[in-house]
Amino acid sequence: MPPAALAANPVPAGPTLREDVLAGLSARPRRLPSKYFYDARGSALFEAITRQPEYYLTRVELALLHARMPAIAAAVGADAHVVEYGSGSGLKTERLLAGLRAPLAYTPVEISPAALEACVARLRPRFPGVAMLPLQADFTRPLQLPRPPRAPARTLVFFPGSTLGNFVEAEAVRLLAAMRETIGRDGRALVGIDLVKDPALVEAAYNDAAGVTAEFTLNLLVRLNRELAADFDLSGFAHDARYVPQRERIETRLVSLRPQRVHVADLAFDFAEGEAIEVEYSHKYTDRGFSALAARAGLEVVDGWGGEPEGFGLRLLRQAAR
Ligand code: AVI
Repeated sequence: MPPAALAANPVPAGPTLREDVLAGLSARPRRLPSKYFYDARGSALFEAITRQPEYYLTRVELALLHARMPAIAAAVGADAHVVEYGSGSGLKTERLLAGLRAPLAYTPVEISPAALEACVARLRPRFPGVAMLPLQADFTRPLQLPRPPRAPARTLVFFPGSTLGNFVEAEAVRLLAAMRETIGRDGRALVGIDLVKDPALVEAAYNDAAGVTAEFTLNLLVRLNRELAADFDLSGFAHDARYVPQRERIETRLVSLRPQRVHVADLAFDFAEGEAIEVEYSHKYTDRGFSALAARAGLEVVDGWGGEPEGFGLRLLRQAAR
């Protein structure tokens, strides 16, 4: 089978890892962008997190995609062009494509061509009737979608996993506004959101007993040691993830366990004992808060599955009348 032709939208040249890291370590509080978690080891560790008993998000979302699929399929309708932000971990995409009514085409959107190729290679044999049209692009910007062989009834953007929650409010609104352009007038977006709930359950999900999340967080320093010739001593930093109710989010930090000097790309950074690097926010939403966020991007919630008892929700959005 020949590889799927890879469409590409111009990917804007943003700051490099080196620029982001040097700026983030010089800022107060110190910060490192969470997108840098996902090197090969980080991606494998994230997959392992999704299998931890405390990390309810993936389990509940998969259960919703199973139990509520007939209703989701009825709301989306037949002949959709499914566009997934990210190339999908497999099972969620399979449940969606298998459950929708005769989807016409599937477009995973990713910056990495290798991830796109792997995703299409996995799904193509399973869905021979669905045109596989991968797109190399930055999904935080409006997308020029590849054209399916037949005109689709609508575009369905699929953005599962509460990945939206890793963006701060202004970025989340920008991303949703770009999604609004991508789906167009008749399109829909199916977005997974983690819901506000008992803080103890949320904190447990980011502090699993097996220590996989801690390893995932510390792997960021392993990456900087390798890619930026840094000399972080891993035993000198600890993973710290806490729920902050006023901001309705988990805030994850790497905390320095002692006074120490670290070199990154020939620059020295001094850490006091207890000084932290902020590495990730994972926002949790109320339905009211999510609808208000969507409204700021010109979107409205038209349907939803999963609520308080499940603790995780899938919400269907469309362009709001202006
Ligand atoms: C990918 N993202 C939605 C995960 C989350 O829950 O924020 C990343 C993660 N970080 C720690 N555990 C999982």
